[in-house]
Amino acid sequence: MLSARYGAADPESFCDEPRPGTNYAMTQRPLVRLGVLISGTGTNLQAIIDAVERRELGAELRIVISNRADAPGLEWAARHGIPTRVIEHRGFPAREDFDLALVDTLNEYGVDLVVCAGFMRLLSGVMLSAFPDRIMNIHPALLPAFPGVHAQKAAIDHGVRFSGCTVFFVREGVDDGPIVVQAVVPVMPDDDEQRLSARIRAQEHRIYPLAIRLYQEGRLTIDGRKVHIRDFPAADSAVLINPKPPPPSR
Ligand code: GRF
Repeated sequence: MLSARYGAADPESFCDEPRPGTNYAMTQRPLVRLGVLISGTGTNLQAIIDAVERRELGAELRIVISNRADAPGLEWAARHGIPTRVIEHRGFPAREDFDLALVDTLNEYGVDLVVCAGFMRLLSGVMLSAFPDRIMNIHPALLPAFPGVHAQKAAIDHGVRFSGCTVFFVREGVDDGPIVVQAVVPVMPDDDEQRLSARIRAQEHRIYPLAIRLYQEGRLTIDGRKVHIRDFPAADSAVLINPKPPPPSR
């Protein structure tokens, strides 16, 4: 099973220009045991595996579960020595029965945190109560804007100047849980769904490992719909304007 120990991480790996005095050192805590749920390509899964292999994330990938046998992410996981399981939702009479099978498998592998990475199924109360505040998901928009499918197209159609991605704790409701990390990207005038998705995806691959790291280091407290992050630098206070304004005149 893939795992990483601490100590070798680049202390600045999650920030381009850390402010002087900022301490990004990883804390010494037990590895978090992950169960990753996928339905497709699995590029976020790959980013998480990469972060573990680069020792930027104190995690152990215990099991990757897909609801589709042809999900390319399964092969990627297997190549990295991670156990995989296919649980096809179509084989179950109700959502709850499918979720029960997920819970059984996740428990069988001793999973602490469930990571949904392009998992195209809504989770029922069965999963939510088995893993309370222990299920994360990622969405390709700045929630609460544009929840649901085709979020990138919705952002373009709406004419927003910025979009991005959000890692959040899964609650009942579609893409509606407490927010852990967000990244902002500009929407360019000639963007189509594909171009914007690629720009967002690149940032997904940075923020998902970061969110899991914050969880593993015990820095997250959920308070209603807000997540407090302990002892970790907030974003710089830079303002983004799109389109880019001219420099202020003297
Ligand atoms: C990502 O865009 C993610 O935000 C959404 O599903 C997509 C999964 O992509 N939830 P991948 O399978 O990780 O490449």
